[in-house]
Amino acid sequence: MRPLRGDPGAGADLAVLCCCFLLLSFLSHGADMPLGSSLSPAANSTSWSSPNSTVSLGFAPSPTSRSLFVAAVTYAGGVPVWSAGAGAAVDSRGSLRLSSSGDLQLVKGSGAVLWSSGTAGQGVAAAALQESGNLVLKNSRGRVVWQSFDHPTDTVVMSQSFTSCMNLTSGPYVFAVDRSGNLTLSWASAGAAPVTYFNKGYNNSFTANKTVTLTMQTNGIVSLNDGSLVNPVVVAYSSNYGESDDMLRFLRLESDGNFRAYSAGRGSGTATEQWSAVADQCQVFGYCGNMGVCSYNRTSPVSNFVSAYQSASLPSASFIKVCFPGLPSPAVVAGH
Ligand SMILES: *[C@@H]1O[C@H](CO)[C@@H](O)[C@H](O)[C@H]1NC(C)=O
Ligand SMILES: *[C@@H]1O[C@H](CO)[C@@H](O)[C@H](O)[C@H]1NC(C)=O
Ligand SMILES: *[C@@H]1O[C@H](CO)[C@@H](O)[C@H](O)[C@H]1NC(C)=O
Ligand SMILES: *[C@@H]1O[C@H](CO)[C@@H](O)[C@H](O)[C@H]1NC(C)=O
Ligand SMILES: *[C@@H]1O[C@H](CO)[C@@H](O)[C@H](O)[C@H]1NC(C)=O
Ligand SMILES: *[C@@H]1O[C@H](CO)[C@@H](O)[C@H](O)[C@H]1NC(C)=O
Ligand SMILES: *[C@@H]1O[C@H](CO)[C@@H](O)[C@H](O)[C@H]1NC(C)=O
Repeated sequence: MRPLRGDPGAGADLAVLCCCFLLLSFLSHGADMPLGSSLSPAANSTSWSSPNSTVSLGFAPSPTSRSLFVAAVTYAGGVPVWSAGAGAAVDSRGSLRLSSSGDLQLVKGSGAVLWSSGTAGQGVAAAALQESGNLVLKNSRGRVVWQSFDHPTDTVVMSQSFTSCMNLTSGPYVFAVDRSGNLTLSWASAGAAPVTYFNKGYNNSFTANKTVTLTMQTNGIVSLNDGSLVNPVVVAYSSNYGESDDMLRFLRLESDGNFRAYSAGRGSGTATEQWSAVADQCQVFGYCGNMGVCSYNRTSPVSNFVSAYQSASLPSASFIKVCFPGLPSPAVVAGH
């Protein structure tokens, strides 16, 4: 919009223009969702979009069952970056609703609340989805009361700050950054002692015992800072570092227990791996299950048993990880 200052009729024009704009944006996308708004898995339900439709919030079929649905924020093209209740799924009669008391709730068809933002009675007046992928609940003065960026599920996107007070989870796997700036990956299953299978420092500068923040920069650098360093500590460079196409870059704790950096072109719906924390997938605890043996289908000997198996069935020179289920422990990883 051009400035309309100086013209005596401009005030009225501006008012009309603003009115049209508000009406248009309410009818299309980017508008604040007022109390009482809801989304459902029904085919005729609309989704909530960010102002430029870079991201949207809506229901998608659950990866585990086509009859269940997950409420997720997805990047244009379909890459999910956050989900309500960390992937909790509801039936086709379920909904995601902003209650009259200002609580964002994931509700099953039965009416049972599966997850909520816990913001009832805190003055929430509306929900809005920002271009960055941040879902915010704000009060009538526009102040943010709750934001999805403070409650990550398995993904961290550009401009999101992942701090040493947070964690990412994916099945039994947990990712965190400790106060010394180490990246850690653990396996934690109910009733079993947690196992940390990855614990790495990238710089010993984090001695101030401050909150350390992990960031995916728009240029593809994964970095750490505790606010005291002039230059952030580089954890990794994405393979396509510096490329500035219209893309989303993000970090994700995958269901295979590895922590990776990705990029996804707008509208492409596919993400390309750019870096992984655990270079050797066989180092991921529990990756091959209880009795599995983790190895590689390449020709160099790995162990008597597995290399005999391999040379017979997998005569390749690749490094793709394979599991041999049912073989006795301990896992055979000799030669690595
Ligand atoms: C969506 O469809 C259902 C039945 O399939 C209907 O009950 C409901 O009113 C429809 N909602 C809208 C917003 O059209
Ligand atoms: C939306 O897109 C327009 C045109 O590309 C751009 O000028 C504007 O800055 C974008 N807005 C946001 C919030 O990204
Ligand atoms: C992960 O963070 C959540 C929320 O702060 C907390 O409830 C949970 O205990 C944490 N999990 C681990 C394994 O630290
Ligand atoms: C951080 O990781 C380094 C290895 O990179 C390790 O030597 C050190 O003990 C770790 N620090 C903590 C607090 O676990
Ligand atoms: C670091 O800070 C935390 C929280 O402020 C505190 O609990 C802990 O004792 C501190 N550790 C050291 C070594 O100062
Ligand atoms: C640690 O980070 C500081 C600040 O970015 C840098 O000056 C220093 O060279 C780094 N040290 C190592 C070992 O990478
Ligand atoms: C290696 O094993 C994987 C997993 O079983 C398989 O998909 C891949 O085709 C194998 N690679 C070769 C070159 O045999």
